[in-house]
Amino acid sequence: MDFDGKVVLITGASTGIGKALAFSLSKENCKLVLVARHTELIEQYKSQFTMHQPLIIKCDVSNKEEVVEAYNTIAEKFGGVDIAILNAGVGFHMDVEEYNSTYAERTYGTNLYGVIYWIEQILPYLLKKKEGIIAGVSSLADNRGYSKSGFYSSSKAALTIYLEGLSLDLKPYGIKVITIRPGFVDTPINSQNKYPMPFLMNAGTAAEIILKGIRKEKRMIQFPWQMVMLTRLIGFIPGRFYEWLASKSKF
Ligand SMILES: NC(=O)c1ccc[n+]([C@@H]2O[C@H](COP(=O)([O-])OP(=O)(O)OC[C@H]3O[C@@H](n4cnc5c(N)ncnc54)[C@H](OP(=O)(O)O)[C@@H]3O)[C@@H](O)[C@H]2O)c1
Repeated sequence: MDFDGKVVLITGASTGIGKALAFSLSKENCKLVLVARHTELIEQYKSQFTMHQPLIIKCDVSNKEEVVEAYNTIAEKFGGVDIAILNAGVGFHMDVEEYNSTYAERTYGTNLYGVIYWIEQILPYLLKKKEGIIAGVSSLADNRGYSKSGFYSSSKAALTIYLEGLSLDLKPYGIKVITIRPGFVDTPINSQNKYPMPFLMNAGTAAEIILKGIRKEKRMIQFPWQMVMLTRLIGFIPGRFYEWLASKSKF
């Protein structure tokens, strides 16, 4: 699948990976739709786009009505979305002393429902066309419950499993579902992290890997390989040893 002439949606396009994807795709001959809450940030950087100007839509992906409204704007202008990169996400570190379900609502609302709401909107058009790509940005942290990040890792675990099931349902319709599982990428979501981030990658490199994988219509795009191996290993560790290791290494 190439991007030529396609309507490409990126959610979470104001910063980080989404912004890097937008920059790369701005050099392609596609119709770019960029979604975030802080659209003023997109307005600032879009002046650097030399080829086409994007359609920018302010939308909180955790709010179903806003997603419906945003999709209607896209459908009116372009008819629908051909390639959706559902990337918007949040992560919070929560100490048990400040346990608060609001963090869960925000995390699941954005990382999981934000994807589900968008798929609900774009799917009828893709089913009719019998082609298209839905790429969801999950995480290599979907493999275990990590300390202080239980809401985040469980939201990504749910997303990864949901996308896998969906890919089976949409295969007969010619619609490809891609799961993207990055390791540590240097973006604002990680700016408060106090622990080491092995094999940290810059957002531009992450975006290039993601776009290469989408072009190849890979089922899963995961990187960097060192973190893929490490998290796979962590996934195999028995519970008791995992607890001991976590207490020693503070991950
Ligand atoms: N960086 C990493 O190490 C890493 C690793 C694995 C997975 N990921 C995943 O990669 C994706 C992109 O994250 P990033 O690293 O690029 O972090 P980021 O720079 O913080 O970007 C997150 C993006 O999501 C948007 N967003 C957050 N809540 C939203 C909402 N309710 N509605 C609409 N947009 C929302 C933000 O825009 P607004 O605030 O303007 O709305 C921002 O554009 C996330 O799904 C994240 O979980 C990142």
